Amino acid sequence: MSHNGLPSPSAAASAAATADTTSAQAEPVVDAQDVTRHYVLGKDTIVEALRGVSLTVPPGAFVSIVGPSGSGKSTLLNLLGALDRPTSGALRFSGRDVADLSDAELASLRNTDIGFVFQQFHLLGRTPARDNVALPLVYRGESRRERRRRADEALDLVGLAHRRDHRPAELSGGEQQRVAIARALVSQPRLLLADEPTGNLDSQTGSDIMGLLQDLNAQAGVALVVITHDPEVAALAPVELPIRDGVLDQERATAGSLVPPPAVTAPPPPAEPDDSVASQRPPSQAEAAEEPPTR
Ligand SMILES: Nc1ncnc2c1ncn2[C@@H]1O[C@H](COP(=O)(O)OP(=O)(O)O)[C@@H](O)[C@H]1O
Ligand SMILES: [Mg+2]
Repeated sequence: MSHNGLPSPSAAASAAATADTTSAQAEPVVDAQDVTRHYVLGKDTIVEALRGVSLTVPPGAFVSIVGPSGSGKSTLLNLLGALDRPTSGALRFSGRDVADLSDAELASLRNTDIGFVFQQFHLLGRTPARDNVALPLVYRGESRRERRRRADEALDLVGLAHRRDHRPAELSGGEQQRVAIARALVSQPRLLLADEPTGNLDSQTGSDIMGLLQDLNAQAGVALVVITHDPEVAALAPVELPIRDGVLDQERATAGSLVPPPAVTAPPPPAEPDDSVASQRPPSQAEAAEEPPTR
């Protein structure tokens, strides 16, 4: 499909604009400082899955994290997705420290601010695409009518409006992943986390899906973190962070925090030596043209 012909990026375009306050918008979407995660196995065995990771993801950034099996990718994704808490170190979402948030508040943050895309799609098998996409809105108490409207909008965004009544078994792998992406976007998150999003797809379909994710990032402004073991997938991101034995390539991780999101319609901001660059970036045309949030 033509990624450039994305009909209306509204479902995700207002992601940045729907942050609670102006100050929240300037905050990194997620910021990890010297974060560790240890798993305790029995009395004497501790697995140090993450051993001091620092990573700042500005609004609208695109970062890939690449490493071999067992390097700590899923552990890191769980933290970046507010599915887990660090053993030590500071982890903040839009400026809010997870240490100050209850489990219920973390769940709410996941529902409103973060979208997840997985290798296995994780769609409900007997449920039509549209209802799969609308599911996150059920937990938010949206009316059925509003859920359907937003689900249709998100399906439109991924080019699958015409498949909304199909069940997953009636869709190709690439179409199922598009449905999963639409579901991830329906809440208008600030952050999209993708764990091996092309892992179950043939290479052509995989590259279509990566093209779609890139378009959503560039045009709609949602920050994108892709976790992968595939160097070709990782290389698509402007910032590529190798992870090994629970440690990020910290030099590049720091550089990553300085890279502003790719500007599609607006000229890039002038290069500056400090990390205020990303937050000072002018709004892209898409953002500027976006109406204020209606919810
Ligand atoms: N729940 C767990 N309990 C104990 N050890 C774990 C758990 N999850 C992951 N690990 C260990 O932590 C390390 C990193 O795992 P993981 O984050 O899943 O790596 P990756 O996703 O890169 O394959 C591995 O050594 C793994 O065995
Ligand atoms: Mg993993």
